Amino acid sequence: MDALKIVFVVLHLLGLLAIVGSVVVRRGVPTPALVWGARAQIVTGLVLVGINETGDGDVNHTKIAVKLLVALAVAACAEIAAGRERRGQGNPNLVHAAGALAVLNTLVAVLWN
Ligand code: HEM
Repeated sequence: MDALKIVFVVLHLLGLLAIVGSVVVRRGVPTPALVWGARAQIVTGLVLVGINETGDGDVNHTKIAVKLLVALAVAACAEIAAGRERRGQGNPNLVHAAGALAVLNTLVAVLWN
């Protein structure tokens, strides 16, 4: 694995850690770690696709499309939860949904070959 890819895989895993860590530690509260982690997954994921496309390995576009849709749903839940929290209308369900969808995307990443 070349150095650039290692950097982005590590950032991708840190994004996952930020989302799941935030949901577990601050149950039901949308933190900046949750919102920025969700945003980071989309950016680092797309960069990783770009890096893999330039290599010789096959890229599974169906899997990537599913991961992108799930990641957009994670980010939507996190952004809406944070917006509502700012207006004093906190909704823990959205935070938990973001965490559950991030775990789902982890399963897709690891189990779908
Ligand atoms: C909440 C969102 C996401 C989570 C939790 C997540 C999780 C993961 C995990 C755990 C891995 C490592 C799997 C392994 O090495 O076996 C991984 C790898 C990968 N993810 Fe994601 N991901 C997310 C979003 C995305 C998005 C949006 C994309 C692209 C549009 C993406 C593209 C990739 C790619 C290309 C790899 C493989 C890197 C490699 O070749 O080693 N991910 N993801």
